[in-house]
Amino acid sequence: MIFCAMASPKLVLLTGAAGNVGQTVFAGLRPRFALRTFDRVSVPGDPTAHLGDLADRAAVERAVAGADTIIHLGGCPRMDADFMRDLVKPNIEGLWHMLEAARLAGVKRFIFASSCNVAFGAIERSHLTTDTVHAFNPYGATKVFGEAIGRWFFDTYGMEFLAVRIGYFRGIYDDPRLADPWHRRIWLGSRDLVNFFRLTVEAPRFGYGIVYACSRCPENYLDLTSARTLLGYAPEEEVPPAPLS
Ligand SMILES: NC(=O)c1ccc[n+]([C@@H]2O[C@H](COP(=O)([O-])OP(=O)(O)OC[C@H]3O[C@@H](n4cnc5c(N)ncnc54)[C@H](O)[C@@H]3O)[C@@H](O)[C@H]2O)c1
Repeated sequence: MIFCAMASPKLVLLTGAAGNVGQTVFAGLRPRFALRTFDRVSVPGDPTAHLGDLADRAAVERAVAGADTIIHLGGCPRMDADFMRDLVKPNIEGLWHMLEAARLAGVKRFIFASSCNVAFGAIERSHLTTDTVHAFNPYGATKVFGEAIGRWFFDTYGMEFLAVRIGYFRGIYDDPRLADPWHRRIWLGSRDLVNFFRLTVEAPRFGYGIVYACSRCPENYLDLTSARTLLGYAPEEEVPPAPLS
């Protein structure tokens, strides 16, 4: 009798799967990986989603069990969020639970949705590199915390950690003629988004890293060098045409 050694598919946990980024990533990665989703609200398209709050450690532990890789999108994404009211629970406490539960469960790789708000405070700079850290608001400061605590988890426990400073993603809510010059410099299309997160799962071991994620945008405001080096990412989409004035 011949036994075929089949590698079991990687189990990827996707948090924030009901959200704007999460729904696009979920639909795009579903055909390629075994996906489990987690959110505090029901996840369209996934009746088996784990429902719970990031601040609920037991719910987080159940969601994390058996995962190889975590794509952590869950949290508060608002630039105008109030630190104590909106951010502490999901973005600080919830992130800690995810990381701690992940390393105890033996998760190999943790992909963290960071933001350009960690660096937008450097308003004098015409080009943001991955070592630019200048929080623009308390929301951005929670993402700085995420990048720093992720470094510590990698240094201490060897769990790979990648901070993805996501550009401007609106997906199905996208404006086909994007007017805001700020948004035009950091725009990320749906196809590039999916491709980007696919690469974060498939890339060979990179250890710890910070990358920007955007499509082909004018002025190269966001430095894509580390995304290219660590993941092999090359954007395919072009920022939508500006409206005629
Ligand atoms: N959309 C962008 O342009 C953008 C840019 C930079 C970074 N990000 C980051 O990407 C991630 C997703 O952003 P989005 O635009 O899809 O936001 P979103 O608000 O549409 O999605 C966030 C998801 O997280 C879930 N969530 C929030 N708090 C939770 C909690 N306490 N417990 C469990 N689930 C919780 C929400 O239910 C929601 O489904 C966020 O971490 C955000 O900071 C987004």
